Amino acid sequence: MIILKTERDLELMRPACAVAGAVLNDVAAFIRPGVTTKQVDEFAASRIKHYGAKSAFLGYRKYPCHTCISVNDEVVHGLASDRQLRLGDIVSVDVGVLYRGYIGDNARTIPVGGCGVAAQRLMDVTEKALYEGIAAAVPGNRVTDISRAIQNYVEGNGCSVVREFVGHGVGRTMHEEPQVPNFVDAKSNQKLRPGMTLAIEPMVNAGRPEVKILNDGWTVVTQDGSLSAHFEHTVLITEGEPEILTWPEKMPSRLKVS
Ligand code: MF3
Ligand code: CO
Repeated sequence: MIILKTERDLELMRPACAVAGAVLNDVAAFIRPGVTTKQVDEFAASRIKHYGAKSAFLGYRKYPCHTCISVNDEVVHGLASDRQLRLGDIVSVDVGVLYRGYIGDNARTIPVGGCGVAAQRLMDVTEKALYEGIAAAVPGNRVTDISRAIQNYVEGNGCSVVREFVGHGVGRTMHEEPQVPNFVDAKSNQKLRPGMTLAIEPMVNAGRPEVKILNDGWTVVTQDGSLSAHFEHTVLITEGEPEILTWPEKMPSRLKVS
């Protein structure tokens, strides 16, 4: 069942998403060569707490960290560790928060200090694919229109989309219907309606699409060792243009801190 959000839901969902966006923004500014992924996760935890929220990931199916931090060939669900980030790495940070009963979910791949042209191109393709998907998130379209927009853009630019992990509805819980694959899948063909809130999240590999899970039971990596990038926003379907809920700029002034 797809849960359509009412204005009352959205009064709480908007701030939850704004907090998720603000935390991700704070973390992006914190990332630099030499810091460990554990330090990044601890910093994220302190920002989540600062905004009065909780991590939506910690403890979810026994997930052990506050955020997902995935470096280079790691696709998603990377675990914080003593690994130091190095100049030229690309690090995907996924932040989901629970705030007053609602969840905001967003992710971004960030270069550490700077990165090579191939990595930058992969990030650009992935981020643009996210916006292509968002542009298709309008009533009258179906979930597959979002999927197709993302897949066509990614594959048209010589990259590949991961099949095993998908976007999703989000609200009071992290994973609601519908699934939002980044490839056309006839099983996910629901009609888009105003009030749907979707986490749209292309996971894009520079090489082949296949992935595997490491022995830690969580970290997803590319099978061929190629780089991977991940961009995600929580988006509201409206009568008109889709509304991106996870912009840090949307942080309500009463939550803002200097
Ligand atoms: N944004 C991811 C998702 O929507 C993060 C989940 S990580 C987990 O599935 F640890 F919570 F599973
Ligand atoms: Co998500």
